[in-house]
Amino acid sequence: MKVPFLDLKAQYASIKDEIASALQQVLNNTAFAGGPFVEQFEKDFASFCQCEFAIGVGSGTDAIWMALLSLGIGPGDEVITTPNTFIATAEAISFCGAKPVFVDIDEKSYNMNPSLIKAAITQNTKAIIPVHLFGQTADMDPVMAVAREHGLFVIEDACQAHGAEYKGRYAGSIGDVGCFSFYPGKNLGAYGEAGAIVTNNAELAKKMRMFRDHGQGKKYYHSMIGWNARMDGFQAAVLGVKLKYLTEWNEARRKNAQLYNNLLVNMEDIITPVQADYGRHVYHIYAIRTQNRDELISTLAGKDIFCGIHYPVPIHLQEAYQFLGYKKGSFPVAERCAEEFVSLPMFAELTQEQIEMVANEIKCFLEVSV
Ligand SMILES: Cc1ncc(COP(=O)(O)O)c(C=O)c1O
Repeated sequence: MKVPFLDLKAQYASIKDEIASALQQVLNNTAFAGGPFVEQFEKDFASFCQCEFAIGVGSGTDAIWMALLSLGIGPGDEVITTPNTFIATAEAISFCGAKPVFVDIDEKSYNMNPSLIKAAITQNTKAIIPVHLFGQTADMDPVMAVAREHGLFVIEDACQAHGAEYKGRYAGSIGDVGCFSFYPGKNLGAYGEAGAIVTNNAELAKKMRMFRDHGQGKKYYHSMIGWNARMDGFQAAVLGVKLKYLTEWNEARRKNAQLYNNLLVNMEDIITPVQADYGRHVYHIYAIRTQNRDELISTLAGKDIFCGIHYPVPIHLQEAYQFLGYKKGSFPVAERCAEEFVSLPMFAELTQEQIEMVANEIKCFLEVSV
């Protein structure tokens, strides 16, 4: 039996006819760039996130970049975030001309440690980007408190956290702006590239809506310099179909995570993910930690079980960010986790038999390597 890291074909098979009909409607209406399907998805996604506005864009990277630009962040500004993230979070800051400033993570949630934010604030700090990594939100109350105290914007990087909750509120709806990626492998994934920004701020929503469409409110009348970051009609149609199943799929991921937790409990040298008391984890990634990670991954691959690493190098140690001057040891928790993370296969359609096989092979590996 093969256990892929992710099985997009299984999900597609379950909604094939609905997808075909939604795509046909886009063709019938030739509504390819922006248009009614994007508008409908924006309404549905805003309502799902319990936010007033959603703006469909080209990717999660676009979403963060555009949110920062629309909040007026630019050269000379600093934005605090975490080194334990996908590089896009930092790239979006850099592409505004601003400087990413990192704080270490909490060892349980793997998200930004809010108690470290204050010390990283300078007179140039303009915003904080907490990243809701792996499908679990950061601890948002203390993040919001320190932001309010210092007059900073909060942009949630919810690119991995569609439907995750923090004290009953949805990821993306807590800060000034929430940013989502619909990269195909995400809990809500398009069939190409797409993203969205959500907010309750009407003025900001209007600005971001114009921004993604060349700064035009009315066709060919450009009141600001913008960009082309529109969502396309096919992606909106696919996402509209899939959004209806997101809660059910997230629930299946949670059930799979619980099964992994039960099977991996008490295994020496395996740390399983912890759902924080404040929230509801949606397990975009189910990452365990272990000392002997590379050997475990290759042993499992030899048994047709495919794992990933999210992420092997924290951002401050990436070659592209050496100019910031951080060194090994700057963020010890993030660095330790990056050396130990193994992302096990996780998707809604994963079967009990597959999960049992993964857990069993991990157990065999640990017995042999003692
Ligand atoms: C935490 C995080 N931020 C940002 C992004 C960027 O999203 P996209 O790939 O849609 O540009 C991703 C996507 O992988 C992500 O996981």
